[in-house]
Amino acid sequence: MSEISGMNVQELVSQFGTPLFVYDESALRQKLHDFTTCFQSQIFATRVVYASKAFNCKAMIDLIGEYGCGLDVVSGGELYTALKTGFDPSLIWFHGNNKTPAEIQMALDAKVGTFVIDNEMEAEEVLEQIKEKETEIDVLFRVNPGIEAHTHQYVVTGHVDSKFGFSLLEKDVIFDTAKKLQASGKIHVRGIHAHIGSQIFDKQAYVELVRKMFAFAKELHDKGFDVTDINLGGGFGAYYTSEDHPVPVKEVCDTILRTCEEENSRTGGFIRQILIEPGRSIVAEAGYTLYTVGYLKQTPNKTYAFVDGGMSDNIRPALYQAKYDAYIAGKENLLSEINYTIAGKCCESGDILIENIALPKAEKGDILVMKTTGAYGYSMASHYNKLPFPAVVFVNEGKARTVIERESYEHMTELEKQEERS
Ligand code: LLP
Repeated sequence: MSEISGMNVQELVSQFGTPLFVYDESALRQKLHDFTTCFQSQIFATRVVYASKAFNCKAMIDLIGEYGCGLDVVSGGELYTALKTGFDPSLIWFHGNNKTPAEIQMALDAKVGTFVIDNEMEAEEVLEQIKEKETEIDVLFRVNPGIEAHTHQYVVTGHVDSKFGFSLLEKDVIFDTAKKLQASGKIHVRGIHAHIGSQIFDKQAYVELVRKMFAFAKELHDKGFDVTDINLGGGFGAYYTSEDHPVPVKEVCDTILRTCEEENSRTGGFIRQILIEPGRSIVAEAGYTLYTVGYLKQTPNKTYAFVDGGMSDNIRPALYQAKYDAYIAGKENLLSEINYTIAGKCCESGDILIENIALPKAEKGDILVMKTTGAYGYSMASHYNKLPFPAVVFVNEGKARTVIERESYEHMTELEKQEERS
């Protein structure tokens, strides 16, 4: 019998339909527990800041609040959702390379705790707007440390052309901008931030990052800025298929914190807080997508199984050639004798969810459970071909609750206007 957190998969499908995102809430809680307990130091204050772009909805943000984590938001929409839940704005880190004037205003009015400043013009805009307000904010400078890491490799480059952040090859720009912000009296330059990539399996990349960040924090300190915070971003890996070897949470947290402690004593001990921003590693493995198998089709070289969703609810295979694992509910113990290509229903040849997966013989009406879809699935969903957004449920100890309703056709077309016809 196929279950997710004590709840039968067929039962979930009869209650909620497909395609359906299902999160094992106990798995989400376990990750939050692991990160918050492992990311602790005797020397520093620490904070786990959830990168909500991976999956942002009210129920998820409530969980984040429960574990005392901070929240990374990158848009008015992510911020709005957080504020709607009553999330403490002082624990919000506002990111993004092109925060609009309206978003900046919204964040200032909401008393968001920290702005992560991405470029000079943004700094000017914040400066201009804050003049009119009572509020004070902390800022971190997003910097490019010249380390780029993806999956199992990392490279050290100049990386001067990133759309994100200030290049460390232009330190004077950072010093000048920091001076201007600080002079406002309302903006406190607290430190620096970097994010070096995603799905990183090499903990040495973080060691390198920590060293570079402490070295630059020291330069800021020596210039007279009271920098206390280093935010190391996210990027911790998740397990999708047997090709993936994520570093266990405890190991990556220990590596980061021990390196921070070493660097801190080497540089003079002025850093007081270390932050990380995991997104994927908290939500990916807890998430499943349930699809109903429709038609099957044999071509000379492929056996297709078509499902009732596709790139509209998971763009990652089409966009990044991301690989996933899946099983057919109720057939886990049968021999996987056929190599299937799992294709979605969108009008796009690239709408392939899994290329070449061995499964037992699939039949129309089977439920295909795709694993590890909790990160950047729902959050990158689209209305392509006017497929409504699926529902999302949290399951815990045999009980399911809807956290996002399935979108109806009415709701999807609600904002559309038709010209009056006489
Ligand atoms: N902090 C910052 C500033 C970020 O830009 C990101 C991700 C994170 C934290 C969280 O990274 P994570 O722990 O989730 O790897 N759509 C892509 C991933 C894009 C990540 C962008 N930034 C995907 O589906 O693989």
